[in-house]
Amino acid sequence: MDVVDARIERILRAAGDAPSVLNTQPWQVAVTGTTLTLRADRSRRLRHNDPQGREMFISCGAFLFNARVAARRESLTAVVTVLPDPDDDLLVAEVALEPGDDPNADELELSVAIGHRVTSRVPFDDQPLLTDVLVAIQRAADAEGASLHTVQPSDPSHAEVIGLVRRAEAIAAEDMAARDEEAAWTTSWPGRDDGIPERLLGRAPSNDDAPVRRYHASRGRELFERHSTLAVLTTAGDSPREWIAAGQALEHALLVAATYFVRASFATTVLENPTTRHDLRQALSLSAFPQMLMRLGNVPTPERSPRRTLGAATT
Ligand SMILES: Cc1cc2nc3c(=O)[nH]c(=O)nc-3n(C[C@H](O)[C@H](O)[C@H](O)COP(=O)(O)O)c2cc1C
Repeated sequence: MDVVDARIERILRAAGDAPSVLNTQPWQVAVTGTTLTLRADRSRRLRHNDPQGREMFISCGAFLFNARVAARRESLTAVVTVLPDPDDDLLVAEVALEPGDDPNADELELSVAIGHRVTSRVPFDDQPLLTDVLVAIQRAADAEGASLHTVQPSDPSHAEVIGLVRRAEAIAAEDMAARDEEAAWTTSWPGRDDGIPERLLGRAPSNDDAPVRRYHASRGRELFERHSTLAVLTTAGDSPREWIAAGQALEHALLVAATYFVRASFATTVLENPTTRHDLRQALSLSAFPQMLMRLGNVPTPERSPRRTLGAATT
């Protein structure tokens, strides 16, 4: 392997550490010289829960952001063209890796954070997050063309958002197709390199006001915090371009959060159901479109879900 190949391999490994819905890792990358072609892998889309591919594109956007950050660590600059072919909507981006300056301290810190960012599914402590940390996380989302709205326990809409999460979870619990799809990505067998291993699903909340996804395969119950800081990631539009931007914004925000040891725990069922997604928009008086809903808080570093080998995700 020559020096260029080794750098590209490191970039692709870091990119593959991106979060993805149910750890579906719905991406495929082709490498031609120093150009990466990133495609959404429709065979990994959640046909029932994500018919439009919104979450698939968000996941690919997160992969793209990691690739950009990891390229800087290699003193390369990623020149990205998003959706380069109007006739091929699965072609997420072309990334030309060009020689660049050495990374500055912020870029290095972000690239190190790729290895620390992990999804949490456990109760957080009930302490509010520091305002300057929240502002730094929001700035990261802004930088990618999205916005992160926080909903604090003191906000009148906090209880309404929690009520909508509860409603969406109750509807999904009765939906056999949704349950089967979730089961396909959460029943683990040894050596599986995608999906979420059962032991990482966390326990179900014993308080029904916890804004978390209720996984059917999760075992046991525990009390979740009552004063979670909620954050909603929004974009001005609602098409693949904005979903890819949302994915990049999500990962930028999560990496900045990780540098402060702040973790995110997602509850996106409410956005997979068009009715509760609409109601959430109303409850928060959003003119923009909600793309992700999460709790943010401080917890010890959780264990991370497995990843496919590099060979499995490249052509
Ligand atoms: C679009 C999207 C939606 C997600 N929704 C949820 C969710 O509702 N609940 C949850 O626990 N995790 C959710 N996740 C997190 C994934 O399960 C997680 O990224 C994946 O399992 C990989 O694990 P890691 O983030 O720890 O590396 C979501 C991630 C993405 C990108």
